[in-house]
Amino acid sequence: MVSEKKEFSDLRLLLVDDDLDFRNVVQMVLEKNGFNVTTADNGKLAAQIFGLGEFDIVISDIRMPEMNGIQLTHFIKAQNKTTPVILVTGFSEISETEEAYQLGANAFIPKPFKREDLLEALRKCLNTTPPPRATESFDLDYCRISLDEFISGRRIQYNIFVRLSEANYIKIAHMGEDLTPDRIATYKRRNVRFLYLKKEDFKKYITFNVGLAPLVRTASSLPKDKKIGFFKQANEILLTEFSLKEIPDEAYQDATIIVGNTLSLATDDDDIFKMISSMGGKGDPLFTHALAVNLYSVLIAKECGWTSPLTLTKVGMAGLFHDIGLREINKEILDKDREDMTPEELRLYESHPARGLELLAKIRSIPEDIARVAYQHHEDCTGMGYPQRLSRARIDPMARLVAVADQYCTLVWGRMGETRTAPAEAANRMGSLYAEKFDHEFLSALLRLTGVLQPGQHLRPKMS
Ligand SMILES: [Fe+2]
Repeated sequence: MVSEKKEFSDLRLLLVDDDLDFRNVVQMVLEKNGFNVTTADNGKLAAQIFGLGEFDIVISDIRMPEMNGIQLTHFIKAQNKTTPVILVTGFSEISETEEAYQLGANAFIPKPFKREDLLEALRKCLNTTPPPRATESFDLDYCRISLDEFISGRRIQYNIFVRLSEANYIKIAHMGEDLTPDRIATYKRRNVRFLYLKKEDFKKYITFNVGLAPLVRTASSLPKDKKIGFFKQANEILLTEFSLKEIPDEAYQDATIIVGNTLSLATDDDDIFKMISSMGGKGDPLFTHALAVNLYSVLIAKECGWTSPLTLTKVGMAGLFHDIGLREINKEILDKDREDMTPEELRLYESHPARGLELLAKIRSIPEDIARVAYQHHEDCTGMGYPQRLSRARIDPMARLVAVADQYCTLVWGRMGETRTAPAEAANRMGSLYAEKFDHEFLSALLRLTGVLQPGQHLRPKMS
């Protein structure tokens, strides 16, 4: 018989838990993988044992008699900062987990856990030389969802995490578990605001209840550092440019999460990413405008009570790509005001919705309705828009919504360097001069967000 080389041969591990059955099962798994295991059934005994011998790693429960896992972590880190400590947490112990993290606990595994979770945590703690930049790229693998907006079937189809710090996530629920309302309420009481899903699971999450094909089809082969650069630019623009004092802070934060998730999906598909890159990056007005309209479209949709994660992601993507056809228009034309364009220049400029439709239709992973928004975002409710002069009823609702965000963002931040309008004045102008052009439901939402209308107030409809 050939003896198998074990992964963790000869490493000394201290296992602390007051539950004998649990301790026995975990000890068996650890010994099978090569660890030399010493056990203790409470923190006080564990502290004494730790003082007697040299241990490579400690695994401890949090709730125990005599001395709990947090106190034990404190003791161990005071003795020897470099000994890794892994804590086993129950789902209701989120706040204790935060405290233990501050004290220096190295990893957390949720109870009950699977063998692979345990081994993954051990590998993470015992591997002393992580690959360069691993922490930066790790965050890109997750999408964030506000706990208030989290919608789940009872039996979850994916693992759920909370984030402790950059690149530090703990799994708090396994695929296949029941996520009851009580459990969600417990997280809220423990001040958890966000849940995190792996990016590939986020695609499942946004499509789980509608049965549509995932928004994004391919796994990306783009280098991570290129994506990191993209996210840094996008975040910088989002954080520094578009936050207005008029917009309630919480609404703004929640919308930026959806924008972040949308961008995360977008970068996962090479064709879509190339399309975004073609707008240029930071400093390119086309890219800045696309991000602004992405953000404000989501803000308006949420203010209107749209909650479906799939719809909100699509709204964000529609905002991002509505003007993609402009990349084919000469910059000298784009720099001009409409009034200064020659008829030929105006014809070219007004071809950008059709060009956008054509560009987006070539990408199989972009849903049809997103391409339709690009085609219809200059239609207006008076029936005098372009390219088709559609009546209000024939314009896709998402295009009517993006049109409001587009106009507002153009007024406030300019499209191609025009004179900018103060946010309050822009909102007032939208509500008076342009009121007939825009859908009143979406315009009212924008005016409420910007404080021109009071919460619950609507513009009075003038048109049918
Ligand atoms: Fe446009």
